[in-house]
Amino acid sequence: MNNILRNVLMRRSVSQFEERPIRDEDLMEILEEGKALSNAVNNQEWHFTILQNRKLIKQLYDVHTEQSSAIPDIKDFLPIEAPLLLIISGRKDNKFVEDAANMVFGSMMLVADKYGIGSCWLAAMPKLFETEAGKSVLDQMSVPRGYSPLCVGAFGYKKTVVATSVLSMEDNIVNIIK
Ligand SMILES: Cc1cc2nc3c(=O)[nH]c(=O)nc-3n(C[C@H](O)[C@H](O)[C@H](O)COP(=O)(O)O)c2cc1C
Repeated sequence: MNNILRNVLMRRSVSQFEERPIRDEDLMEILEEGKALSNAVNNQEWHFTILQNRKLIKQLYDVHTEQSSAIPDIKDFLPIEAPLLLIISGRKDNKFVEDAANMVFGSMMLVADKYGIGSCWLAAMPKLFETEAGKSVLDQMSVPRGYSPLCVGAFGYKKTVVATSVLSMEDNIVNIIK
C-alpha cells in the first residue's frame, strides 16, 4: 500500500488534544504541502489564519456556547479545545473559493496526520463569525478585507483517537455506469 493511501485510511478525526503547541516546523510542512492542492482557476484567493492565541481561542469558544441555542445548526457540533485553530478564508465574490478551501483543508488534515497531529473539522464555526460577537473576534484576526472564513478546524498532537467505521464498497454507495 502506498503512503498516501495508508495516510488516508489511517486518519481519524481527533477531539482530544495534548496541550503542547504544534512545533513550528510541523506547522510549516502542513501549510506548504497542504496549500499546494488544486484550486479553481488558480486564483488562490484565500488566506490562512493560524490561531494559537489562547485568549482568542477561548473567546471563540465562548461565542460558540452563547450562540448554540440561537443558531440551529451549531448545537449539533461540539467545539473542540485545541492548541491551534486553522481558519481558511476566501474572497466572498469568488464562487469557487469555498470548494477549493474545503479541498485544501482536507489535504492539510492528511499532511498533519503524518506528523502525529490530529485534526477535526468544525463545520459550524464559520457561521459564528457572522454574529456580532463572532465579528468582534474576527476583527482581531487581521483577515484581509473582502475575505470571510470558510473552513475552521482544530489541530493538535493527538491525545486519544476514537475509531470510526468507514463505509465499504459493499455498503451500496457506489454506482458504476459504463
Ligand atoms: C465537512 C465536515 C464537517 C465536520 N464538522 C464537524 C464538527 O463541527 N464537529 C465535529 O466534532 N466533527 C466534525 N466533523 C468530523 C466528522 O464528525 C468526522 O469526520 C466523522 O465522524 C468521521 O470520522 P473520521 O473523520 O474519523 O473518519 C466534520 C467533518 C466534515 C467532513
